[in-house]
Amino acid sequence: MYTQLQLRDSSRPPVNVATLGKMKANGEKISCLTAYDASYAALIDEAGIDVVLVGDSLGMVIQGHDTTVPVTLDHIIYHSRAVAKGLFRPFQMADMPFMTYTSREQALQNAVRLMQEGGAKMVKLEGGSGQAEIVEFLARHDIPVCAHLGLKPQSVHKTGGFRVQGREEAAAERMRNDARLLQDAGADVVLLECIPPHLGEMITQELHVPVIGIGAGPDTDGQILVLYDILDITPGRKPRFVRNFMTGHDSPLAALQSFDRAVRDRSYPAAEHNF
Ligand code: KIV
Repeated sequence: MYTQLQLRDSSRPPVNVATLGKMKANGEKISCLTAYDASYAALIDEAGIDVVLVGDSLGMVIQGHDTTVPVTLDHIIYHSRAVAKGLFRPFQMADMPFMTYTSREQALQNAVRLMQEGGAKMVKLEGGSGQAEIVEFLARHDIPVCAHLGLKPQSVHKTGGFRVQGREEAAAERMRNDARLLQDAGADVVLLECIPPHLGEMITQELHVPVIGIGAGPDTDGQILVLYDILDITPGRKPRFVRNFMTGHDSPLAALQSFDRAVRDRSYPAAEHNF
């Protein structure tokens, strides 16, 4: 009963949705990273990171695909279960992969699997106003939801590439409206990917739920990056917003601690990481 009473370390209580809300209210930055296995998850926990996402980016950095489209629900569950073994304090989020939330019932069934089998405490799905009904249905069933706006990697074949979103006024306006709509539908967190910094700032100010950014400028409530990008493991050219945190550090743990510090003291992202 109430297993959080069995805290392994009461000086480091687990992060939950309420913690994230308080951090936004207090102006404390939220540090977030992706993870795909138990060993890195444990290091991320030790480094003090607040949120861990088992992202469908695993399709690219683990499985070697060009996009996230081939990732299945079973893949995310497999990795999420491993990550859960390594985490105690960070809040664990898991991605709903491509085409796993095309109806309310399908979304609920799959979100339940991510939580029950994968150990996730929040599910993330990509989409704008078209997903409001699904977010509302999940929220009505007490499934914590993160709504992912801006660059939506699952739509890459429709949009024609990984491009900055919301540059034009009309697109920026649409994104602001979508963010409000999804918050009002019950999203607990909004994630913004690859948008101009002023738009990231505006949406963050307009929402009462925490906003996490990746390539969305310095003013979102939190920052997330792909683990393998910051450890300089990902081969090839990296997106503009990536910083190699291994530089000047002799271990992955030191690099993760450096990322955590840089998010909290606002030295990451710097001007050169913005669009
Ligand atoms: O899949 C993922 O890792 C993500 C992050 C890039 C935010 O969605």
